[in-house]
This record gives sequence, C-alpha cells and structure tokens, in this order.
Amino acid sequence: MISDNRLFHSIGVARMAKQLAICFRPNDTEFAENMFLLGLLHDIGYEFTDDVVQHAKIGGDILARCGFQYADSVAVHGYVTNDVFSDELYILNLADMIVGSDGKTCTFDDRLDYIKNRYGAESKQYEEAVIMVKKLKDDNRYHVFNFVD
Ligand SMILES: [Fe+2]
Repeated sequence: MISDNRLFHSIGVARMAKQLAICFRPNDTEFAENMFLLGLLHDIGYEFTDDVVQHAKIGGDILARCGFQYADSVAVHGYVTNDVFSDELYILNLADMIVGSDGKTCTFDDRLDYIKNRYGAESKQYEEAVIMVKKLKDDNRYHVFNFVD
C-alpha cells in the first residue's frame, strides 16, 4: 500500500523530474509535462506490493497496459544493471536519488544515509544505491543539472 510518505516522495520526484527536464530540454514543454507524470507515477507499484524489487516491474506492467509512454522506465527504475539510461530513465533515477522520503530535495549523501539507516549498511538496497549515485555522477548528462549537489 502506498503510504502518506510515499505520496510526498512521489510528488517531490515529479517536481524534480520536471525541473531536470527543463534544464535538459529548455524549449520542450511537453517533455517537462511527461517527466512530471513519470515522477508522479514511478512508485505506484507499491500499492500492490511492499517488495522493493517487485514494485518497479508491477508499476511498469500497470502503466504499459494503460499505454503510458514511459512504462519501461518505471519498470527498471533503480536498477543499476542497466548499462545505458535513456534520458527519461536518467532523469527519473536522478530525481529519485535527490528527493527524500518526505518529498523534500536532499543531497546524494542524505539519501544514501536514509537508505543505509532503513535497510542496513550491508543491504543490497544500500549497495545498489551507492552504485546508482556513482553511475549518475559519472554520466555525461550530470553536468547539465548544475543545481544538483
Ligand atoms: Fe521506486
């Protein structure tokens, strides 16, 4: 079930994804609108599972059935095994890592601390979040978002 905090996180990710989209493609209003929706919907799988891994696939499946253009990004968000992030997936993963569980903007370090405290320093979640932050920072697109960190 989607918790109140998850809702705050989702609206925060939506607004951040909109801002990132504007940085990335300043003259593309439709892209900003789409990225807002992608951020808002990215965690809907949690309504049907509490499983961290399964929620992405379940959310992606629901949105694919509804014909949502970016269902694929929802299905694999947070996965560090993807070699290449599309622009949409890059924006979603970046927004997800700089918006806290309360929906407020935070640093990568704040987000990593939260994940470490919630799941444990030895957890797969924390290990993958560390890899995700590194991938996001190493990406050529990172410098475009100059307000991050
Ligand atoms: Fe998620």
